[in-house]
Amino acid sequence: MAKSAPAFTCSACGAAQSKWAGRCDACGAWNTIIEEAPLSAGPGAKSLGAQRGRAIELTDLATEEAPPPRALSGMDELDRVLGGGLVPASALLVGGDPGIGKSTLLLQAAAAFARTGIKCLYVSGEEASAQVRMRAARLGLTDAPVKLGAETNLRNILTTLDVERPALAIIDSIQTMWSDSVDSAPGSVAQVRAACHELVSFAKRRGTSVILVGHVTKDGQIAGPRVVEHMVDTVLYFEGERGHQFRILRAVKNRFGAADEIGVFEMTGQGLAQVTNPSALFLSERGQSSPGSAVFAGIEGTRPVLTEIQALVAASPLGTPRRTVVGLDSGRLSTILAVLEARCGIPFAGLDVFLNVAGGMRVSEPAADLAVAAAILSAREDAPLPPDMVLFGEISLSGALRPVGQTENRLKEARKLGFSQAIAPSRSKTGAEDGMRVRQMQDLTAFVGEIFGAG
Ligand code: TYD
Ligand code: MG
Repeated sequence: MAKSAPAFTCSACGAAQSKWAGRCDACGAWNTIIEEAPLSAGPGAKSLGAQRGRAIELTDLATEEAPPPRALSGMDELDRVLGGGLVPASALLVGGDPGIGKSTLLLQAAAAFARTGIKCLYVSGEEASAQVRMRAARLGLTDAPVKLGAETNLRNILTTLDVERPALAIIDSIQTMWSDSVDSAPGSVAQVRAACHELVSFAKRRGTSVILVGHVTKDGQIAGPRVVEHMVDTVLYFEGERGHQFRILRAVKNRFGAADEIGVFEMTGQGLAQVTNPSALFLSERGQSSPGSAVFAGIEGTRPVLTEIQALVAASPLGTPRRTVVGLDSGRLSTILAVLEARCGIPFAGLDVFLNVAGGMRVSEPAADLAVAAAILSAREDAPLPPDMVLFGEISLSGALRPVGQTENRLKEARKLGFSQAIAPSRSKTGAEDGMRVRQMQDLTAFVGEIFGAG
């Protein structure tokens, strides 16, 4: 008897399994193995070699092809994250926590695209049409020629798209869609994957761009298999802290532009407003220069963004001191503390360390290391840094400061926002920044000596 296709798949890594197990032996994740309907055994299913296919058309690398024309929404923050506008026939996934503002963002985007003359269809599987219309009224979008539908049946949606032929279709959300050809509940991995596959192939076949909304699970992944992320051209995450009104749209994958690009929005009573100068916004909450505050001159995608890093160091009542981090990788904090202890002789035993990036921003650049170290030292020594100083540089395990990219852009942005001195790793490529005093330093020990005396 021929062996049938494996009926179990790990939803975290995609490994095929022949039977169910509590733990995936490929990636080690727990409770991720799910049953899947086996592939239907068509006539060609037995052996691909037995039946000859059609020879595909091949071209040279040099074949001339005009770059795809892009559609601009006029929302600059969105257009930039897309890599300079929406590419026709592309498939996008916009992920984010429930309630973060995905539906709001995409309704505004739909209206913006529709106002430029692009035929736009918005299908909501989560809300009734009346609810979406009410939101549109509150956002002042009722005049935009967006076609609106409320449906969860994939077959009906695909038929509608085939009839209407919009240039852009927004599906809110992929988890509510269900296909009657798949034998499991809406929201299950098999359904999400099937719906995504159908919609993406429709996009490619008919030249319609589709934007899929995806909810994110507790551990920060788009619910459903990773395969969904592989199927689309672009993956954007819409993120932000609950208590803050700032929202950041971040490209984590983009076949048509730079990943890591961010767009910054502010949630207001009238929907999302664009924030054109994020540095000013992230620094606006900064009061008088206080101990434990350092300004990091960072780069997000193609744009320089200044953020404030805040630290608090206090004697710990606990046997194991706390290390609490918001907006940064906690492993990075441990590394920096270890380097400060081992290379500069500054002990942190018995001290709690709290670290926070102001404004609900997330920083992932290694270039933030020096600003993090500076904030921690400033808090520990109870000595404020000069208020007009920015810092950047990666710290290596030996305590050396490594140069980072785009030094000139970082300095230019700092200059624009009224900063007049910077600490950078030595060998950084700096141009002539008038009015900016740049001190280049070899290692962390030199930095500690110069800024905090002997440390
Ligand atoms: P929503 O777009 O429904 O989130 P998602 O689709 O990601 O689940 O956003 C809901 C939140 O946004 C809700 O808490 C209310 C808030 N909001 C505003 O503050 N102002 C507005 O103009 C709108 C439309 C929503
Ligand atoms: Mg929603």
